[in-house]
Amino acid sequence: MAEEAGPSEPLGVPRRAMGRESWEPGPPGSCGPAVGGLLWLALSSPVEAKRRRPENGDAEGPGLAKRQRAAAEPGPGRVPVGQLALDYVVPCLGCYGICVKDGFLGEALGAQILAEVVGLHQGGKLRDGQLVSARTVPSRSIRGDQIAWVEGREVGCRAIGALMARVDELILHCAGKLGGYDITGRTKAMVACYPGNGMGYVRHVDNPNGDGRCVTCIYYLNRQWDSKVHGGILQIYPEGRPVVANIEPIFDRLLLFWSDRRNPHEVKPAYTTRYAITVWYFDSKERAEAKGRHRLATAQKDIPPPTLQTGGPT
Ligand code: OGA
Ligand code: MN
Repeated sequence: MAEEAGPSEPLGVPRRAMGRESWEPGPPGSCGPAVGGLLWLALSSPVEAKRRRPENGDAEGPGLAKRQRAAAEPGPGRVPVGQLALDYVVPCLGCYGICVKDGFLGEALGAQILAEVVGLHQGGKLRDGQLVSARTVPSRSIRGDQIAWVEGREVGCRAIGALMARVDELILHCAGKLGGYDITGRTKAMVACYPGNGMGYVRHVDNPNGDGRCVTCIYYLNRQWDSKVHGGILQIYPEGRPVVANIEPIFDRLLLFWSDRRNPHEVKPAYTTRYAITVWYFDSKERAEAKGRHRLATAQKDIPPPTLQTGGPT
């Protein structure tokens, strides 16, 4: 499933979350209260979630509340990946375009992944993140992360490979149920470190122009993250909704969201080292079209410009 990766593009001037409420489930609407509760549970602290659980949280039967808790809980009671996909990720992405799963892999594998990422960082393997376009603007003013692309089979990257396999499995279980996409490939994993110098990533859309990427999956690795002290929150401004989702980059959290213009987002300045691993999944049709356009553009570059006919045989 590996492919080379594409970077993200800025959205011009960074904007504040002005006029937007911090994310709340809001009225049930077409999504229903239970699914609202799922996202809400994932985005709230456990205490907050318990206190504010909707009265009608069990409206669709007792099994649902149990599934809700299982999906939100890390630890040995972790739900099988197929169930997580169908009961949680599919409805959550369908309703909100954003989905958070805490305790995705558990302490042991999470710790191994973190150790590998620290190894890459301390081994000098990370390079300044780049942008595909906006060549006139230095990347540094837009994104302050340092990155490496990892396939997952390299020495010292096997746990990262296990993470990738696990996310692949999750996405495969969602097959045919994710926004009409046909997902058959993905990028390598982008290991990213914001070094804690107050840099973030300005508001941008990962895939504004149909490069094929449809789902962004980010796995966070930061223990004892306190956003009030360390900053580094990911803010997502879902298109057409007056809300902002504040995602803390905490250890063993998996975040998924649509990669296109529905989800502009920004990483707030981080004041301590912040690690994350991102994988983007491709929609096969959009990816094929994007590759076709790219091939055409490159081929056209090779055609010599027409020369002026100045005389010659008649
Ligand atoms: C990105 C990005 C978000 C994060 O790399 O495109 O938006 O929380 N990262 O690290
Ligand atoms: Mn992004």
